[in-house]
Amino acid sequence: MSADLLPALLEQINGDARRHADWGRVASYIPELACVDPAQFAISVCCVDGREYHAGDVGVGFSIQSVSKVFTLALALGRFGDGLWERVGKEPSGRAFNSIVQLEVEDGIPRNPFINAGAIVTTDAVLGSNAPRDTLGEILLFLREAAEDGDIHINDSVARSEYATGDRNFALAHFLRSCGNLHNSCDKVLGTYFHHCAIEMTTAQLARAARFLCGGFAGQRMIGIERVRSINALMMTCGHYDGSGAFAYRVGFPGKSGVGGGIMAVVPNVASIAVWSPGLDRYGNSQQGTAALERLSRDTGWSVFS
Ligand code: DON
Repeated sequence: MSADLLPALLEQINGDARRHADWGRVASYIPELACVDPAQFAISVCCVDGREYHAGDVGVGFSIQSVSKVFTLALALGRFGDGLWERVGKEPSGRAFNSIVQLEVEDGIPRNPFINAGAIVTTDAVLGSNAPRDTLGEILLFLREAAEDGDIHINDSVARSEYATGDRNFALAHFLRSCGNLHNSCDKVLGTYFHHCAIEMTTAQLARAARFLCGGFAGQRMIGIERVRSINALMMTCGHYDGSGAFAYRVGFPGKSGVGGGIMAVVPNVASIAVWSPGLDRYGNSQQGTAALERLSRDTGWSVFS
């Protein structure tokens, strides 16, 4: 499809999302996120030729939540290389993002770096012996450089709200620590984890930040191409938790969701994409965001499978 048709297509997708009015339900287990109006939608596409296209509420910041796990994974892989895989697996879990049940059976090695248990381990790895403030600074620096935008910040109220209600994540962290797979204290790791999940971005910023996973963008050399492939493979197989198979089937390119309603997606060598709509489906993935990516892939023919 010619890129000239993208502006009209994005406007149609934006219109469809609003007409549909089946927004899904916002995440309520983090009280600050429960207050977000579900009837919002935005989409941004950055093509490798440098052109960008946006539609909907593109100026509204949202909580990137689990999408941040991609950036901590990139930093952890940069620091530990394949050694990271001694602490976390590369397999889809087939379970909810915050599931505990597999962790005991599998001796405290989380299935993959995108379920909460896995992201808690990668956060611990990136922390090493540093202070949370320095590690969060490093994550923000990576994001700001990737997006070429210094105006990306953490929403402290969201981080505090999750900390106050984060019993499930504390349970995961304590179990990981009992298995020797968490080197820092649970409090230190989760304080850092909640804060990187609480980073706020617009779809325009997130689509730009995702260019480093796309290949083909001039000047985007934040990580090597082997790592880009590894991260995209994990987003494809594990990026939507127990909805990952359906996402691959419907959309056909890698993506990572967050309970704030954001999805960051990559069409290798073609475009990076961010979509946001805060209402979620039963797997915790954006309802209208997924529908929008399905339509975008159908109408553009973008897919890694053919
Ligand atoms: O730890 C949590 O539960 C949240 N900070 C992140 C979960 C999340 O975004 C799952 N994604 N769909």
